[in-house]
Formats: sequence, structure tokens, C-alpha cells
Amino acid sequence: MTPNQAWELILQQRHHPDHSSDDWLVETPASDADRAAELLQLFAPLVRALPANQPQQVIAQMGQSLDGRIATITGKSRYINGEDGLIHLHRIRAVSDAVLVGSGTASADNPRLTVRLATGPNPVRVLVDRHRRVPADHHLFTDGAAPTLHLVAGRYNPASLPSTLSAGVYEIPCLSDEEGPIDPREVLRVLDQLGLKRIFVEGGGQTVSTFLSAGLVDRLHVLVSPMIIGSGQPAFSLPEIDSLADALRPRANMVNLGSDMLFDLDFSGH
Ligand SMILES: NC(=O)c1ccc[n+]([C@@H]2O[C@H](COP(=O)([O-])OP(=O)(O)OC[C@H]3O[C@@H](n4cnc5c(N)ncnc54)[C@H](OP(=O)(O)O)[C@@H]3O)[C@@H](O)[C@H]2O)c1
Repeated sequence: MTPNQAWELILQQRHHPDHSSDDWLVETPASDADRAAELLQLFAPLVRALPANQPQQVIAQMGQSLDGRIATITGKSRYINGEDGLIHLHRIRAVSDAVLVGSGTASADNPRLTVRLATGPNPVRVLVDRHRRVPADHHLFTDGAAPTLHLVAGRYNPASLPSTLSAGVYEIPCLSDEEGPIDPREVLRVLDQLGLKRIFVEGGGQTVSTFLSAGLVDRLHVLVSPMIIGSGQPAFSLPEIDSLADALRPRANMVNLGSDMLFDLDFSGH
């Protein structure tokens, strides 16, 4: 049946109601071929060869409720997204060289940042923790599942970078100690010098927002869960604007993952 034929059926039922519309509610799941095509379309930009003039690629994600919250006011975010959203997150980890989180996320969630819900290698884990706020017994420091780069405040010395990375924790002073937001360029410079090219900024809201407002995000995946929290921590916090002409309007591709709606946003033209 075509959409126009379906619409004619709806109009017919509207004017001559009977019980036949009950039969319409048969689920028609997307075929495997449709899902495979969607997956290829979503991930092609994340695995393409990087052009010579683009040394690194940054993909960021935000898992949020319908009202744009990423956690309750007390920092609980597990789980806003459903299983399909989580699998998607693990797939992005699996195609990234590095997965990066801020100290707020690492402290609140004690994440592992490994690939468990998909096949593929674990990325290098990067923790932006200027003031060494994340407790030493958290998984990133103790589980040995992958290298963890612990980026802290201090004078940067490129000569002290390890020549190879193996599972373990590497503390790297490289961030300025000033008040206010970190400079994400300082972070990318270190990762570039370690040969890490595909960077996945997984959270939280402040860290993703900092990369976004610096114009450093190439691709943003916003996973929207059909949930209204009504209060809590905001997804994006960007400098105030007066005119909507100044809002970010990336090219968007929307994909229904099942448990969540994915907005695949392309900032490459910005
Ligand atoms: N739903 C999701 O997708 C998702 C994903 C991740 C996290 N979360 C939730 O989000 C919450 C944490 O998010 P968050 O936004 O508060 O923290 P965050 O982005 O993880 O980390 C923010 C903290 O990291 C440091 N930081 C890193 N980059 C910064 C920047 N550009 N500007 C300022 N500070 C920066 C600051 O700590 P210093 O002062 O120590 O430098 C700051 O306090 C948690 O409740 C977590 O559960 C949700």
C-alpha cells in the first residue's frame, strides 16, 4: 500500500467508522535490509578516510529526554536512553580512537567507556579532570580494560608523552588552571600528538557544549528518549543569542532507532 492509499483508507474510516481500523495496528517493523542501510548511512561519515586537510574528526553525542535534560538535578542519568540507544553509543565507541568525558560525568556515573554492547575494539579513554576531582577507585583508573589518559591542569611537555599506549593510566598535565571553561583545542592537540584521530566526545553536557561552541564538532548524534523529566541538568549550554538566525542549524538526518529517536547532525559545513 502506498502512503496515499493509506490516507484514503483513513478518510474513509473517518466518514464511515467501523471496527476495521483495529486491524491497522499490526506492527510493521523495519526489515533487516532497511536497518542495515540505515546503519551504513549513519556510520559511513564516521569511518571515511580523513581528508589531508583534516587531521582529526570529532563526533559528539547527547542522550537526552524530550525536554532536553541529560540527568536529574542530582545527576542520575542511568538510563535515559533505551537499549537501542545504548547499543548505538557502544558502536560509536568501537569506531573511535578515543572516547572522552568530563570530570562531572566520570564522577557521577563511574563509567567504563568500553565496548560491550557491540563488537569492536575499546577506544583509548580520555578523562578531562583539571582538578583531579574523579575518585581514584573509579573504573577508568582501576579496571585496566583500555588505556586511560587523565588530562589535568599543568604545564604541557610533549616530550613526556608515551610513545605507545597500553592498558593503564597516563596522567598528562596539559590544561590551563584558569577559572571557566577548558580550551578543547588543548585537549585535541595532545590527542593528535598521540596519533588519536577519531575523537568521540561522549559527555557530559558541559564538555560537549564546550567543543560545540568552539566549532570543533564535525558530527553530533543526539539521542532523544520519549521521556519528560521536567527538571534536571540541561543538554546544551551555549552562549546566549538574541536572534534565531544565530542558532545552530546543522543538516539533520533523523533515524528511529526503536527505543530512541536519533538526530544525526552534520556540522561539516559550519
Ligand atoms: N545523558 C547523557 O548522554 C549523559 C552523558 C554523559 C553524562 N551525563 C550526565 O551528565 C552529568 C555530568 O555532566 P556535566 O555537564 O555536569 O559534566 P561534564 O561535562 O562531564 O564535566 C564537567 C566538568 O568537567 C570539567 N570540564 C570539562 N570540560 C569543561 C568545560 N569546557 N567547561 C567547564 N568545565 C569543564 C569541569 O570540571 P573541573 O572544574 O574539574 O575542570 C566541569 O565541572 C552527570 O550527571 C552525568 O550522569 C549524561
